Amino acid sequence: MSVKKVGISIIGGGLMGREIAAALSRWSALIDHPVVPELVGVADINPAALEWFKTVPTVEILTTDYHDLLSDPRVDVVYVAVRHDLHEQIYTDVIRSGKSLLAEKPFGIDGKAADAIMQAVNETPESFVRCSSEIPFFPGAQWAINYIQSGALGQIIEARSSFLHSSDFDQEKAINWKRQVQFCGEAGVMNDLGMHAFHIPLRLGWKPSSVFAVLQNIVPQRPDGKGGIAECDTWDNATLHLSVPHKDKSATEETFPLTVEVKRIEPGEKNTWLLEVKGTKGGVRFSTKNPKTVEVFALVNVPGIGKEQSWQRIDAGSQSVWPTVTGGIFEFGFSDSILQMWAAFLAEREGQLGGKFGPALPEEAAFTHKIYAAAIASQEKQTVEKI
Ligand SMILES: NC(=O)c1ccc[n+]([C@@H]2O[C@H](COP(=O)([O-])OP(=O)(O)OC[C@H]3O[C@@H](n4cnc5c(N)ncnc54)[C@H](O)[C@@H]3O)[C@@H](O)[C@H]2O)c1
Repeated sequence: MSVKKVGISIIGGGLMGREIAAALSRWSALIDHPVVPELVGVADINPAALEWFKTVPTVEILTTDYHDLLSDPRVDVVYVAVRHDLHEQIYTDVIRSGKSLLAEKPFGIDGKAADAIMQAVNETPESFVRCSSEIPFFPGAQWAINYIQSGALGQIIEARSSFLHSSDFDQEKAINWKRQVQFCGEAGVMNDLGMHAFHIPLRLGWKPSSVFAVLQNIVPQRPDGKGGIAECDTWDNATLHLSVPHKDKSATEETFPLTVEVKRIEPGEKNTWLLEVKGTKGGVRFSTKNPKTVEVFALVNVPGIGKEQSWQRIDAGSQSVWPTVTGGIFEFGFSDSILQMWAAFLAEREGQLGGKFGPALPEEAAFTHKIYAAAIASQEKQTVEKI
């Protein structure tokens, strides 16, 4: 039986563009996937960035003008990984071309841009659109979702969802586009890391109704890379105290607290994503710091002692949303999460994801901008803001 081929192209051949090209080359690790993607084209305004893609044998189109990809019949799906100020124009162009789009977060530089992208989505139903967020595809994160959905928590007491790194700890590191409001957006670190932290809460139906935010610009100036100093005007760290209405109508409280932390300066953390949820009957936590391990809370009978509260550790293994040939006991990593996100994206595009977890929906990505706007207002006024 011949499997359907899907032509993929990339706009923006930088850090993420190369990562996606590498992930697609491992497609044969997936078992019984309905399609085989083939990276056929790459666009980048910087010709030097295109050089690396010459090593990918299936690539036929290398161009400095992304419109070439949108008019090419070999292209079915476009992945876009460019600066945030370019999202609105390029995403709407891709969507209106009728090609499918896997967009990078934050899905527009701000709420206005996200609204314009949503308008294109709503007006172009033939374009299948999702937003990138790969960390929830770690098996441990999937287990946490399954545990929460099983109802084992009882009434939720509180939740924490965080993405922490410390790439900006070095104050001598030169500025780049991600540290400037004009390119990254007023939401700063929330635009960079927020989608990762909100993907699972929003998918679980936890829609925050209010926020109190603590935003920090810890390093306001950086070397400009040319011997001078440049303004570094984005928020480095954001701690959001959110209230989430209980879905469970029998809950004794109306809301539960969700704390979302997204930080570029968290000393000691390289790329730590974590989710922790505690309830009246159970609890679950997973962190990429210990990517094999999921912890669940239980009341256990300890011989000779009696009934005690206990956090138990379980190894999660290698299997995520889409089955792979990888042995079940082996370890899972960042590049596996990218492969799994693409497996889910292309299966969902074929209508064959079967209710399993998929990349962020356009509505979820657009909603994060409402949270960020309320967080910025909260920081300015030192108030709790409605979302
Ligand atoms: N999902 C993740 O884990 C993750 C991680 C990092 C970044 N990102 C997101 O990916 C996007 C890109 O980030 P990055 O780190 O890859 O950036 P990058 O700076 O490494 O790469 C961006 C590339 O886009 C190219 N470019 C700029 N304008 C262009 C245009 N008009 N047409 C074609 N190419 C153009 C640049 O030359 C550059 O090569 C951002 O939205 C960012 O938030 C996602």
